[in-house]
Amino acid sequence: MTATSADPDPTKPFVVLGVGGGVAAYKACEVLRGLTESGHEVRVVPTEAALNFVGAATFEALSGHPVHAGVFADVPEVPHVRLGRRADLVLVVPATADLLAKAAHGQADDLLTATLLTTRAPVALFPAMHTEMWEHPATQANVELLRSRGCVVPDPASGRLTGPDTGKGRLADPAEIVDLARLLLAVPDALRPDLTGLKIVISAGGTREALDPVRYLGNRSSGKQGYALARVAAARGAQVTLVAAHTQSLPDPAGVQLRHAGSAAELRAVMHEVSGEADIVVMAAAVADFRPTNRADYKIKKTDHDPAPVELTRNPDILTELVAARKPGQFIVGFAAETGDSRADVLGHARAKLRRKGVDLLVVNAVGDGIAFEVENNSGWLLRADGTEITIPLGAKSALAATLWDTVLLARQS
Ligand code: CTP
Repeated sequence: MTATSADPDPTKPFVVLGVGGGVAAYKACEVLRGLTESGHEVRVVPTEAALNFVGAATFEALSGHPVHAGVFADVPEVPHVRLGRRADLVLVVPATADLLAKAAHGQADDLLTATLLTTRAPVALFPAMHTEMWEHPATQANVELLRSRGCVVPDPASGRLTGPDTGKGRLADPAEIVDLARLLLAVPDALRPDLTGLKIVISAGGTREALDPVRYLGNRSSGKQGYALARVAAARGAQVTLVAAHTQSLPDPAGVQLRHAGSAAELRAVMHEVSGEADIVVMAAAVADFRPTNRADYKIKKTDHDPAPVELTRNPDILTELVAARKPGQFIVGFAAETGDSRADVLGHARAKLRRKGVDLLVVNAVGDGIAFEVENNSGWLLRADGTEITIPLGAKSALAATLWDTVLLARQS
């Protein structure tokens, strides 16, 4: 095949974005935007049905390329073979029940299904449909078949569906889809279903300790690392409960059971409630070590005290309690955000914390302005109880999550 003007820019990752015929097709525009704005070359391949929901002109304007649904446009360029072969990743957003059925059974009656057959790149299909259609044994069997062949098919989210009903079947948040797409481009097998059957509990975000109805003591944790851990674990097949303290308005991860906790005391209660049966527990939350001893039930006035004294009481260490209460075989991961000081450097403090807390694995981040907190990327070390240490280079929080799950699986076997 000779190069044509339709060939992708070879310096950019090339994504084929398939769009199925459901109301959630409009959210594919946000995924398209997210991918092009972060330097990806994208070709949109809608089904005919998808074009009833979003016009080709919208996809053409956002991608900068012509859009066709059938195999009879640009025939000399053999697009149904060319696109699949060139793709570094094929995403389908949304994947309807009908499209999942066609993909599972190898039908190829339009450009998207033909591309799904020709490509050897990773394929990720993000389902969206009514709960009854998702739960139907036919759909479940198609999803299993696709997963067994190596396709990534994360469970849909729960929430508002088309019309007045709510339930499981909502499309994953576009920001989550873009994040998982970027992970698959960086590490093509990062979402293999090797956590299937495992129950995982993850805490995330920062606790807030109330001083009065208006003020609190808090910290700078955004929750992004914990959410990335939940998102990646769920996409790898785990049954995930995410206990979220305060976060920076993050989308609910699809296919994850979400619980909320505001203060350290609330987080402690929920963690004890949900961790008992878990195979793996990860304490990624930044828990306040102290709380105000007295919480005023009125707004404290500046004239009430001069200067205002704040007396603090130490909070229980939830992680240490979970380690003490762990069931046989339960694997426990702690986090440590450290700065070096006159006593030890970051790793010195972290090695001591690994021993002190009795965890199986400690994730260590060096912290400071613009590092680890409130940012998209993270770096650090994974310290295992057997003394193995893994350095994590600066990268997306999802990439750190994928490495953490690889390491946990390896450590559980040894
Ligand atoms: N942690 C916890 N309960 C607390 C404080 C911390 O469960 N009250 C957990 C965190 O979720 C994290 C780990 O313990 O997984 C380490 O937290 P960190 O604040 O780094 O450790 P501290 O025990 O507070 O130690 P230090 O103050 O000496 O750094």
